Amino acid sequence: MSFPTETVYGLGANALDQEAVIRIFEVKKRPRFDPLIVHIADKSQLHKYCKNIDKTALKLINSFWPGPLTIIFEKKKIIPDIVTSGLNTVAIRMPAHPVALDLIKRSGCAIAAPSANKFSYITPTTAKDVFNQISDKVDMILDDGSTDIGIESTIISLIGLRPHLLRPGGLPIEEIEKVIGKVELYKHSKKIESPGQMKKHYAPGTKMEFITLKTKLPEGKNLGLLAFNKLPDNKNKFKIIEILSPKGDLHEAAHNLFSALYKLDKMNLDKIYAEKVPENGIGIAIMDRLQKAVS
Ligand code: TXA
Ligand code: MG
Repeated sequence: MSFPTETVYGLGANALDQEAVIRIFEVKKRPRFDPLIVHIADKSQLHKYCKNIDKTALKLINSFWPGPLTIIFEKKKIIPDIVTSGLNTVAIRMPAHPVALDLIKRSGCAIAAPSANKFSYITPTTAKDVFNQISDKVDMILDDGSTDIGIESTIISLIGLRPHLLRPGGLPIEEIEKVIGKVELYKHSKKIESPGQMKKHYAPGTKMEFITLKTKLPEGKNLGLLAFNKLPDNKNKFKIIEILSPKGDLHEAAHNLFSALYKLDKMNLDKIYAEKVPENGIGIAIMDRLQKAVS
């Protein structure tokens, strides 16, 4: 079933039931090499699923759980290989959304859940967007309107010598560094450690490109614009303009990002232009998603 979290809508199944988890991959058409996040409702459940929970982990958990932070730990055997794509690590998160927490508590199990989109399409932040993508394939969608944060959780790996960031997300990296000190931005390894790092991801079907003051717009085409905070001087060149945050607030922009992309993508445009947003706080995660959408 699909359920809301404070970040985006998830598509969940019992994390300990291999058959149920296989269904997630089928519904999303997600390749089996892309591991899932295991969601828990209580910090005390953590030791059941992973080992070597060190001081840094405890600091993160005590500061940011429940919330938009996923942490990679060494996994225990109880987690089926299908969940972690055969890795010996597991991604765990305790969401802050009351519906998500209640669902996990009532189900009596940990819930493996990716975002509830078809693989590499736009992440849903409303029940309606979930419905439009996978309604024919899920039993139930729990509707709690649009998600608060609007962008997926930040993923930090505690495997290896120093903590490193695998995916910027709803929890700004600056906040994390206040608690555990310097976090390495991306760990450069040949192997894709977190397929969220794959370049093309979160992409709309329509071609997308960043726009700058120098961009020459093609004539006679249906163009859309994803603007940050205001209408541009050449607004008449666009068939539709979505403004992410009229007051220039990055949190509001994150909240609106995927639904705005979704709306533009459904308009059969020839191209969508996107303005860059300031790269600080949650703006780093917004730019990460936009980079992936244009590439
Ligand atoms: O906010 C979120 O995190 C949402 C909600 C539903 O909780 N979930 C989400 O899941 O974004 P998904 O599957 O769309 O993204 C999970 C990311 C993937 O990029 C996956 O590769 C990475 O987490 N991941 C999962 N397990 C991992 C592991 N053991 N090591 C490295 N990366 C892992
Ligand atoms: Mg996803």
